[in-house]
Amino acid sequence: MTAALTAIQRRRLVVAARRAAAAAYTPYSRFPVGAAVLMADGRVFTGCNVENASFGLTNCAERTAVFSAVAAGSRRLRAVAVFTPTPTPTLPCGACRQVLHEFGPDATVLSVCAGEGCVETALAALLPHAFGPADL
Ligand code: THU
Repeated sequence: MTAALTAIQRRRLVVAARRAAAAAYTPYSRFPVGAAVLMADGRVFTGCNVENASFGLTNCAERTAVFSAVAAGSRRLRAVAVFTPTPTPTLPCGACRQVLHEFGPDATVLSVCAGEGCVETALAALLPHAFGPADL
């Protein structure tokens, strides 16, 4: 069980995720997504979705953020915020849930949007009975 996010941490992540969405490369879907990850060392990394003419090569915002953190030597994920400029919040896709689980099985997931609604939940609730490093 991980301690709840403080209001300051939550605000910091939401602002970072919203800013990150501005860099999204989405000529095909026109569906920009921004993500920000809070790592156990206190660092925050951001990411956006990056699409490709070969559609299957698209990288989601959440994975971009996690891969940036790992590339910078930060591996323990504490929380992730996802922003979409939509009326309702968007939760991480299945592939992203799996990648988030690798680095933060107890992470908090926070989804925010242009509307009022937001979702804050545990990654474990989004990916029950997950397959992970311990299963190998
Ligand atoms: N997308 C994300 O970036 N994160 C998600 O969790 C859901 C989907 C992106 C992928 C693609 O660029 C666009 O949203 C539409 O699927």
